[in-house]
Amino acid sequence: MTLQFSPASAAPETVDTPCVVVGVYENGLLTSAAARVDSAAGGAIKRQVESGDINGKAGSTTLLFAPEGVQAKRVLVVGLGGQKGFDAARFQKVNLEAARALTRLPIDSAVSFLAEADVPGRDAAWRVRTAALAADYATYRYTATFKPREKTGQPELLSMGFATDAQAGLDQAVAIAEGVRFARELANLPPNICNPAYIAEQAVKFADAHADNQVSCKVLDHEEMERLGFGSLLAVGRGSANKPKLIVLEYKGAAADEKPYALVGKGITFDTGGISLKPGPGMEEMKFDMGGAAGVLGAFVSAVKLGLKINLVCVVPAVENMPDGDSYRPSDVLTSLSGLTIEVLNTDAEGRLILCDALTYTAQTFQPKVLIDAATLTGACVIALGKYASGLMSKHDDLAEELLSAGDISLDRAWRLPLWDDYQVQLESGFADVANIGGKNAGAITAGCFLSRFTEGQRWAHLDIAGTAWDEGRKGLATGRPVPLLAQWLIDRAG
Ligand code: BES
Ligand code: MN
Ligand code: ZN
Repeated sequence: MTLQFSPASAAPETVDTPCVVVGVYENGLLTSAAARVDSAAGGAIKRQVESGDINGKAGSTTLLFAPEGVQAKRVLVVGLGGQKGFDAARFQKVNLEAARALTRLPIDSAVSFLAEADVPGRDAAWRVRTAALAADYATYRYTATFKPREKTGQPELLSMGFATDAQAGLDQAVAIAEGVRFARELANLPPNICNPAYIAEQAVKFADAHADNQVSCKVLDHEEMERLGFGSLLAVGRGSANKPKLIVLEYKGAAADEKPYALVGKGITFDTGGISLKPGPGMEEMKFDMGGAAGVLGAFVSAVKLGLKINLVCVVPAVENMPDGDSYRPSDVLTSLSGLTIEVLNTDAEGRLILCDALTYTAQTFQPKVLIDAATLTGACVIALGKYASGLMSKHDDLAEELLSAGDISLDRAWRLPLWDDYQVQLESGFADVANIGGKNAGAITAGCFLSRFTEGQRWAHLDIAGTAWDEGRKGLATGRPVPLLAQWLIDRAG
C-alpha cells in the first residue's frame, strides 16, 4: 500500500502531529516554517545552528524531541544545502532523506513543510507532488519473500500531510505512486514466482478490479501466438518450461474510435543468456530483465488511477530465456511476425527478439497514435549513460522532445542517442534479412536500429532502461523507472 497523502493547513508550530518537518539552508538561514517553529520554541533551532549541531547540509536531519511551545511531539529539521543552487534535484533529495529519517522513528504520521521551499522553474503542484512521491519512494519496503515477522507493535509511517494548497499535485502523486509501487514490487519478485504466467495473472487481476474504469485484459498463450506467427518471440521461450505469454491491457478513457497510445515493455522474467550463456557472477540481477514490462504496466496503472482522458494499450511479451535441449541456438534463422527473417548470432540478444514481434502485433492490431517501448535491452546503454539517464532513441524529433521533457519534469530523465541509418549496416546478415546483434560498437544504438526495422511507419520511440530500472548490488531494489517519465508523458498528452 502506498503512503497516504493529505494537504495540511495548520501552522507549523500548532499542527498536531507526531512530527513536523521543516527545512534549514546551509548558511543557517531558516525557511519560514522553520523560523515559526523556532520562535515558538524560544530559539531551539537557532541555538543548534549556532552550536553547529545543525549545519544545513543537503539531506542532513536533526530531531528535536518535545520542544516547549510547539504542538508537534517532534520537529525534524532537514538541511536544504545552499539556498543559491537549490534546484529540482536537490528538492527531491532532501525530501527523500527527510522521509528516510521519518521511517526510523516510532511514528505513523508526519506533516512536512518542505514543499513550501521555492524551486526555480517549478510550481507548487510540482513541489508537493515531488515531495509526496519522494516520501512514498523512501517508505517502500520489499517484504514479499521474507518469513512473516512477528508484529513488533512499533508504529510505521503510513501517512503524511503536506503544507500546500495544490491538491492537484497530491492527486497526481497518489496515482503515480501506485504505478511506481506496482512496478517495483513486480520487478523485485524472484523469477521462480514472477514468471510469464504470473505477470499475466497480475495484469488480469488489475483489469478485473478496474473493469468499471474501462480496463480490459487479454492474454495470448504460446499456442495462439504459434497460430499467429510469433516466430521470433516463441524461439526465445523454447528453452523454458514457463511458456511465453503476450499480455494485452486496454484502457478506454476517451471516445471508442480514438486511436490509443501504446506502450510495450520487455518482459524477460529471467535472462540466463540461453545457449550464449551469461557468466555466473551477477546473473541473479537478470530477474530484473522484466523491468520494461513492470514499467509500462506501472505507467498503465497510473494512467487508469488518474482517469486520463486517453485510450491506452499496454502490451507485454513475457518470456523466460533458458538453455535447454530445445533452446534456440546461434545461427538459427527465425521468421518474425512481420515476415522479416532474423539470423540469431547470440541468444543473449533476446530482448529485441521478443520486442520485434510485440511491436509488430501492437502496430497491426491497434494502429496506435504513438508507440513506445521500454526495455532493459543492453549492457552497452549502462556503459554509455550509467544509472542516471535512460537511453532514448527515436526518429521523431518532436516525440523525443516530449519524452525528454517528461523526464525532466518527473526527474526520471532520459538522454537521446542517435538512430541514424548509418548504423544499420552493422545488422547485415548473410543468411537472413537482419542479424540480431550488431558487433561491439554502439550496442545500445544497434539494438534500437534492430527494433526500428519493425516499427516502420509508426510514430515510435524506444527507452533503454538497462541502467535505470534497478539499483545494482546484492540488495539493489527495482526503482520503478520509467513509470514517472511515462506517466508524465501521458498526463501531457491528455492535455
Ligand atoms: N538483459 C540484457 C541487457 C542487460 C545487461 C541489462 C546488463 C542490464 C544489465 C540483454 O538481454 C543482453 O543480454 N544484452 C546483450 C546484448 C549483446 C549480446 C549484443 C548485452 O548487452 O550484452
Ligand atoms: Mn540477454
Ligand atoms: Zn535480456
